[in-house]
Amino acid sequence: MFKDNSQTMKQQDKRLRIVEQTMRKHGSEPHALIETLHAVQESYGFIDQEMMEYVADKLGVPLSKVYGVVTFYHFFTLKPQGEHVCVVCTGTACYIGGAKAIIDEITKSYEIMQGETTKDNKLSLVTARCLGACGIAPAVVYDGEVAGKQNAQAVIQRIGGWLKNES
Ligand code: FES
Repeated sequence: MFKDNSQTMKQQDKRLRIVEQTMRKHGSEPHALIETLHAVQESYGFIDQEMMEYVADKLGVPLSKVYGVVTFYHFFTLKPQGEHVCVVCTGTACYIGGAKAIIDEITKSYEIMQGETTKDNKLSLVTARCLGACGIAPAVVYDGEVAGKQNAQAVIQRIGGWLKNES
């Protein structure tokens, strides 16, 4: 799910730890499935195949059941379809630090709301509640790479770079 560099791995660890703590709190039993998926959703902003397999394995639940739950409840979001995914943290520290301005700028520049993908399928915008990186708020994850101290201008520049390199 995430690129292999130490900063990214560290942030991923924090998020994974939140998910693991949730499983442990519920005895790592199948009945912890929904709570665990909530923790994944809140930490990562969406649930992807790799994470569904991980949760299924850890809780001893068939993967088909995990898929069933994720697709049945509207509050779970599968990994977005865009070629690039920008996850903006809207947890307290990031919100205070300017996450709303970042989201507003993306919405204005690319005409997508949170959870949406541009018509050309290039970019998806996702929000997460806390990425476990409050010390570097506001935090944004670009295709799995966590970046701290972001602002609207930096985000638009980064996304612009993605799209420019492909046009
Ligand atoms: S509130 Fe954004 S990383 Fe914690």
